Amino acid sequence: MSKLTGTIASVNMTTNLILQRPSTTVVLAMSTDGKIADVKRSPARFSSEADQAHLERQVALADGVLFGAGTLRAYGTTMSISTPQLLEQRQQQGKPSQPVQIVCSASAKIDPELRFFQQSVPRWLLTTTTGAEYWQKQAKETYFERILVSNATAGVMNWTEALQQLATLGLKRVAVLGGGTLVAALLASDLIDEFWLTVCPLVLGGTSAPTPVEGSGFLEHQARRLQLLSAQTVGQEVFLHYRLQPR
Ligand SMILES: NC(=O)c1ccc[n+]([C@@H]2O[C@H](COP(=O)([O-])OP(=O)(O)OC[C@H]3O[C@@H](n4cnc5c(N)ncnc54)[C@H](OP(=O)(O)O)[C@@H]3O)[C@@H](O)[C@H]2O)c1
Repeated sequence: MSKLTGTIASVNMTTNLILQRPSTTVVLAMSTDGKIADVKRSPARFSSEADQAHLERQVALADGVLFGAGTLRAYGTTMSISTPQLLEQRQQQGKPSQPVQIVCSASAKIDPELRFFQQSVPRWLLTTTTGAEYWQKQAKETYFERILVSNATAGVMNWTEALQQLATLGLKRVAVLGGGTLVAALLASDLIDEFWLTVCPLVLGGTSAPTPVEGSGFLEHQARRLQLLSAQTVGQEVFLHYRLQPR
């Protein structure tokens, strides 16, 4: 169970403004050699039923689920909640049955034929001005309940501002379901609070196979440090729960 309960407040030292953002927990399964998919970037189907149940529990704790367009293109669907106890738990907490599913895409070029658009979940798109224009030409309300436009410079999103938008829209807790490109961008902006990593018993290898954190990487002296909150073995898998240490 995560320790995080609500929005995170921080002070912008330049403006002295108090900034609110949702708490963020990355949830990923990886091979023993640290890959989240094979070299063909196939959808990762290598984790156990126990891990799928763990993922669903993490999704059920969230107000919103955030993932990159690469992840959506790989899977074509998203994790929705179907376990009756989890649906009941959300109802008792006064939450909607499903958290909002937020796809992040600068280009917004997402195939409207994906099965994701038939799933019974609320869908938002987080994109750039150009991306939003692309969807204005479609019957957008069929696909997305809301299109959020993040201030972006040269296609690079301002994540602090994007997460503030999510807090303004009432999201207190966000589960980040990958992929490594999105996680790297959030980590670089200091916007990740916790990691859940499931280490699965297989080796995928391959220098181009994706890992939990892509991007340009951090030199060792700049690397973010983690505090281990728990480590649990279930069958052949190890469930690791970390909190980011303050800089
Ligand atoms: N094992 C697991 O638990 C797990 C979980 C999730 C994913 N995966 C695997 O991970 C792979 C996908 O990961 P990925 O790193 O390639 O993709 P990703 O992070 O899911 O998505 C990358 C795309 O998302 C958008 N995006 C992400 N960060 C952005 C940013 N900072 N600013 C603007 N747009 C941003 C861009 O979309 P546009 O190109 O549309 O602009 C970008 O091309 C797949 O192979 C999938 O199977 C594994």
